[in-house]
Amino acid sequence: MAVTTAEPVSGISRREFLYYIWGASIALYLAEVGGLIIWFAIPRIKEGTFGGVIRVEASRLPAVNAAPLNEANGRFWLVNLDTTTSEGVERMYQAGDESATTGVVALYKVCTHLGCIYPWNEATNRFECPCHGSKYRLDGRRIEAPAPRSLDRFPVTAYDAEGNVVTDAAGNRLISPSGDGGIGPLVITADVRDKITQFAVDTGTRTDGLVLTLLKDVTSSP
Ligand code: FES
Repeated sequence: MAVTTAEPVSGISRREFLYYIWGASIALYLAEVGGLIIWFAIPRIKEGTFGGVIRVEASRLPAVNAAPLNEANGRFWLVNLDTTTSEGVERMYQAGDESATTGVVALYKVCTHLGCIYPWNEATNRFECPCHGSKYRLDGRRIEAPAPRSLDRFPVTAYDAEGNVVTDAAGNRLISPSGDGGIGPLVITADVRDKITQFAVDTGTRTDGLVLTLLKDVTSSP
C-alpha cells in the first residue's frame, strides 16, 4: 500500500505551510473584526455639527418670554420661558389647567407632521408651519393639528467658564430633567444665573414631543 508523507516545501513541510496559512487567515480575520469595532466606536459626528453637541454662549440666550433664538447650525430654537408672570401667561397662551413653566428649552426645528421647517411668527406669537398649518406655542406645545404631537426637544446642559456643569445650591447639576413627561425646561434660578457661560444642546438625543390636547380646544386665545 502506498504511504504518503509530507513533502518538504522550501525547508518546511506541507503541514507546517498549511498551519501558517491558517494562522495568517485567523490573524487577518481578527484584525478586520478589531478594525470594525474601532470604526463603530469612534464617534463620526463632530461637536458643533448637527447630531452632536452644539454650544451656545449664555449671552445669546433670549430674554425671558422673548422671541426664540434661531440656532441654524443645530436645527433648534432656544427658548427662555417663564409663565409665573401675567406677561408670560399671555405670551404662552397658558391653559387654565396648566401649571407654570419656567426655564430653557431647545426645540427641534422640524415639524412633527411631515417634517417641514417652520418659522416663528412674532406677530401671532407662535410657531406656524407653512406646509399644512400646524401651530405651536413658544414652549413647543401643539396648538393646532395636523401635527400629531408637540415639538420634539433636545436636552440642555449649563456650563461655567471652567467648562464644568453648573450646580445649584443643593448640588444638583443643571441638565434638562427628563422622565415620562419628556424633556422638561432647564430651570435657572437667580443664584446660578451668573455662573452660566454656555449652554450645550445635545442634538443627538432627541425626545418626541408630548401628545397633549390641542391648545385651541382648551383655551380661546390661540
Ligand atoms: S409638515 Fe408641518 S403641518 Fe405638515
